[in-house]
Amino acid sequence: MLGVSTASPDNRPAAGQAPNAPAPALVKRAFSGIQPTADSLHLGNYLGALKQWVALQDDYDCVYSVVDLHALTVSPEPEALRRRVRATAAQFLAAGVDPDKSILFVQSQVPQHAQLTWLLNCLTGFGEAGRMTQFKDKSTKLGSQGVTVGLFDYPVLMAADILLYDAQVVPVGEDQRQHLELSRTLAERLNSRFGEGTAQVPEALIVKATAKIHDLQEPAAKMSKTGHPAGIIELLDPPEVIVKRIKSAVTDSGTEVRWNPEEQPGLANLLGIYAALTGQSVEAIVAAYEGKMYGHLKQDLAQIVVEALAPFRERTALYLADPAQLDAILSSGAQRAEQIAATVYGRMAERFGLGPELPPA
Ligand code: TYM
Repeated sequence: MLGVSTASPDNRPAAGQAPNAPAPALVKRAFSGIQPTADSLHLGNYLGALKQWVALQDDYDCVYSVVDLHALTVSPEPEALRRRVRATAAQFLAAGVDPDKSILFVQSQVPQHAQLTWLLNCLTGFGEAGRMTQFKDKSTKLGSQGVTVGLFDYPVLMAADILLYDAQVVPVGEDQRQHLELSRTLAERLNSRFGEGTAQVPEALIVKATAKIHDLQEPAAKMSKTGHPAGIIELLDPPEVIVKRIKSAVTDSGTEVRWNPEEQPGLANLLGIYAALTGQSVEAIVAAYEGKMYGHLKQDLAQIVVEALAPFRERTALYLADPAQLDAILSSGAQRAEQIAATVYGRMAERFGLGPELPPA
């Protein structure tokens, strides 16, 4: 336990402290974001990211964002984007993000995200950005006519999100590892170009067991908002849909319940979800199903998922029923986020030579 934060809003020693006094023990800061690109998050988002966000709140100074600027890269209809921003924030709250402990805000409400992106653009190589595998995959699918500069720049905006809060840890799923590497590279580049202390170098926090939840129909692929609906469990799906999706999940050849991710990736995915939702080890689950068939496991897992998600759906509906309260939480979060972002952006911009020189600290 790291205890109560003694950090100033920018997570550095408070003003007035003697320059050579030992810095007070600082609570580490965590930052993460999810795009509002669907009305419901899916089980991959929850197990890969959101569950960790909630767990970190007691020990870290947490800043969590609905990253609507990132969502613009898929050209949403304005009304759908607005609705999904609220729906995504409501799901963060329903999952247990506590606005009294953590800062919860919408990315576009804090202008420094776009501002810092420009500074980082001027430090990022064209080839470096072009090597991002998510960009390469998406641009292959869309073709050169469909690819925007925004999609190309997506990882730089993500680096700006993280560096603006001097975040030490970034809880994400496996698919974000390469983007995190770019954020680290840019932080190191800022420090080597403008001096140590310009940027905090962040670490990815990726929990191995849930780093990649797989598509239920195509176990080689990750569960994704853009996948086939039958391969996804949305957190707001009604019980009958959840039961149907799990019962029709692809479970490879064979009938016995065993842990063999190489040869039986579909079954391993179901076992991983089972373990993550119940807190049991995979070994214990496999032992409990000895002599039983896949069908038993699927039936039980469907029940486990339905029961885990029922209160989540109810809480989300309650938050969405009171949009004024939701907006108030988000606007207070944006004010708190901007306090930090303005200080960190000011420090970085000054080192680039923008605006007047700041007096020495
Ligand atoms: P997004 O919205 O695509 O995904 C949100 C989070 O869910 C994780 N995730 C998964 N984890 C395990 N299994 C899966 N099948 C699965 N699918 C998605 C993602 O890894 C992510 O943690 N680029 C980010 C959004 C972002 C961000 C940031 C994250 C923008 N700025 C700054 C961290 C810090 C993304 O992928 O969002």
